[in-house]
Amino acid sequence: MRNVMISPSILDSDFSEIKATIKMLNGVQAEFIHFDVMDGNFVPAITFGPKIMKPLRPLTKAVFDTHLMINNPDKYADLFMDAGADIVCVHQEAVRDMNAMIKQVRNRGKKIGVSIKPNTPSSVLYPYIEKLDLILVMSVEPGFGGQKFMEPMLGKVRDFRALIDKNKYNCLIEIDGGINKTNAHLAVEAGVDAIVAGSAIFGSADPAAAIRELRASFVKTC
Ligand code: DX5
Ligand code: ZN
Repeated sequence: MRNVMISPSILDSDFSEIKATIKMLNGVQAEFIHFDVMDGNFVPAITFGPKIMKPLRPLTKAVFDTHLMINNPDKYADLFMDAGADIVCVHQEAVRDMNAMIKQVRNRGKKIGVSIKPNTPSSVLYPYIEKLDLILVMSVEPGFGGQKFMEPMLGKVRDFRALIDKNKYNCLIEIDGGINKTNAHLAVEAGVDAIVAGSAIFGSADPAAAIRELRASFVKTC
């Protein structure tokens, strides 16, 4: 049985209540916390930077799963690692020298993830997969929470699952975008190790209950 983790995206949470949100995530034992960093350039929206992340670090032991939807991620990755990022996930489409990017993160003892947008095929990551800690398959166009899940993206999850299992690579597969309690089991069946969910959790009146329900929705599948 695979242990599938949940990575709540705080993008659409109420930032005036961020401490209470982290406390709630600790209470439900969320394994990861997903930080959606947007620069108004790689994607149209702007969210937050390392200064917002840093004061949250002492509040939790959860893995800080940092999704950098930014151009020139090599320029900013160190700032996020300084602020407490455990996983630095960059976009393949924004990286010029992937080997250098991988080294930059690995040299600091942090985990390197690479994300691909819906139109980017899985094969672009095959040359690097052996060196990656995480692959993040986008199941919406990056930029906004609350979009509709793109089911065909599960084909990429299956491709990566087969390759990772066949070669016994030590790389997690995460899916991000439009996941809720009705479709999470499809992602788990396809082979993900971690599920990002934003609006399905923080759009709910009871986010802790929403996390429990999300877990329960796929637990029989893993
Ligand atoms: C989209 C972000 C996602 C998003 C998830 O660009 O990367 O992490 O916030 O939100 P939902 O679950 O609402 O699609
Ligand atoms: Zn994300």
